[in-house]
Formats: sequence, C-alpha cells, structure tokens
Amino acid sequence: MDYQEIIEEVYHQVQQENLRGKVATYIPELADIHPEQFGIALVDLNGNVFGVGDYQMTFSIQSISKVHTLTMVFHKFNTQLWYRVNVEPSGNPFNSIAQLEYEKGIPRNPFINAGALVITDALCSKYEQPTKQITDFINEISGKNCVAINQAVKDSEKNHGERNTALAYFLKSYKNFDNPVEEVLDVYFSHCAMEMNCVDLAKSFSFLANDGYSIFANRQILSESHARRVNAIMLTCGFYDEAGEFAYRVGMPGKSGVGGGVAAVMPHKFSIAVWSPELNEKGNSVKAIRALELLTDKLSFSLF
Ligand code: DON
Repeated sequence: MDYQEIIEEVYHQVQQENLRGKVATYIPELADIHPEQFGIALVDLNGNVFGVGDYQMTFSIQSISKVHTLTMVFHKFNTQLWYRVNVEPSGNPFNSIAQLEYEKGIPRNPFINAGALVITDALCSKYEQPTKQITDFINEISGKNCVAINQAVKDSEKNHGERNTALAYFLKSYKNFDNPVEEVLDVYFSHCAMEMNCVDLAKSFSFLANDGYSIFANRQILSESHARRVNAIMLTCGFYDEAGEFAYRVGMPGKSGVGGGVAAVMPHKFSIAVWSPELNEKGNSVKAIRALELLTDKLSFSLF
C-alpha cells in the first residue's frame, strides 16, 4: 500500500475543491490563524511516517486531547467511571447545557465538554500534578517531547470560559464533580491549549490502531478490550452532533478539535492526523473531514 501516493492524491484533490468554512472565533488566538493551512500525516504500525502539506506545523489540539485524558482515566478507573458519564452520542453541540439538565448532571459522553470536565475532574482526584502528567503521557505515546502548552491560548480560554465554568458548577450541583471548579478548569484549559503537529498527534493515536500497544512508548497503554471501547466512543461520539455523518462518510473512529485538527485510526493498519483550521457549523474541520472521506474511498480496505 503506497500511503504517500494516496495522501498526496487526497491532498491535491481537496485543495482543488476549494472548500471553505470559518476558523474558530471564540478566542482571538484561534481567530487569527492563517485559514488555508492544511496538512496530513499518516503513521503505519511499523512507525513509518507519511506526510503532505503543513503536516509539520504545530496547532492547537483542543478537544482531541479528550481522547488522551479519557485513556488516562480509563486505565485508572476501569468500569467505575460509567456511573458518572454515559457513552451515548449526544446529538447536540459540544458545549450544550440543556441536555445536562434533562439528564440530571450525567453527561451523555466523555467528549462533549461536560463529559470531558468530569474526566478531567477524575484525573485531578488520581494525579498529583494532572497537567504535567497529561503532558508527560502524550509525550510518551508520541515517542518524543513534543507537547507545548500555548499559554496565550490557555489564558484566553480562561478569560472566555463562562460556559465551561457554568457546566462545571452545574455538574457540582448534581454532585458529579469532586474537586474545586477553578482547579479542574485550569487543567482542562491546559490540555485544550496543547499544541502538536500532525506527525506527533498521529503517533499519539497509534496505540488505538494497535490493540492498545504503543510502538512509540514500547508498552501496552490500554488492554485490547479497553482500546476497542475508546474506538467505539470515538466512532459514535467523536464529532458531537456530526458523529453519524462522519461515520457515514468516513467510517473510522476519530476525534476533532476546534483548532481544525482531526485524529483518526484504522484499526490494525494506521493512525492519521489531518489539520486545517476552517470549520463547518458543527465545529469540525471542513478539509480534514473531506480528506478522510477521500482517503477511505481510495483504500482497498475499510472498517466495515
Ligand atoms: O472547551 C472548549 O469549548 C474548547 N476548548 C474545545 C472545544 C472543542 O475543541 C470542540 N471540538 N470540536
């Protein structure tokens, strides 16, 4: 399989289509990004890296970090986590408050903001220095010290953090939040403000394509059955109210972020990260989704 040739074909085809969206504007640091950047990196299970376009540029991984934090708590809590957060698709925007009230403070899944806040809260209960431990973990599974927290993005997230703060207090009112809100939000904004390039991000997802074993960390990160479950949650919830559309068009477990990144896995084959900052109205990268759709159409195999 010539992955380099395929991703180059995909890259050029997407560029020709001239798809447009809008960069995230809720904080100035994301609003000011050059919108036309576009990169793809694919990493196979032997560690070979294939890249095209801006695949070595770092970008804000935002909600993609929720897969890393979920992995960390999954390992620590096993099934004890699931009375605090469900695993159902939300069919609602990622920052919805309404659903949380209907469902009495139990978030639909760990990837909507409310669910991710519960996960970060659980991490704060288990780890002494959660932000450092999240960074160390992502560095380990990428095989390199590659993660930087963009302080300006983090500060800005905090200054514009009314909705996440409201979600956290709402969770606390339902007794689904153990640690001080400010402390947990600090960790949450830190992991959303992490920056990586497509290569390192794809490497950090490699264990999910490899039954839980990371060839970059040289160890089993999750058991095979836990890795399958993380993939199932990505497939059903990774794109919020566009999860069905992504499964239909692309058919890979994946996770998006409002920085324009998407990381996805083809189990037993490869992991991939695509980045382009312009988003559709659901907050997911227009070019990244199209690129992955073309990629899975061109491959001679699929998940289904
Ligand atoms: O908390 C937030 O709303 C942002 N820091 C992250 C949201 C995000 O990436 C949603 N994904 N598409």
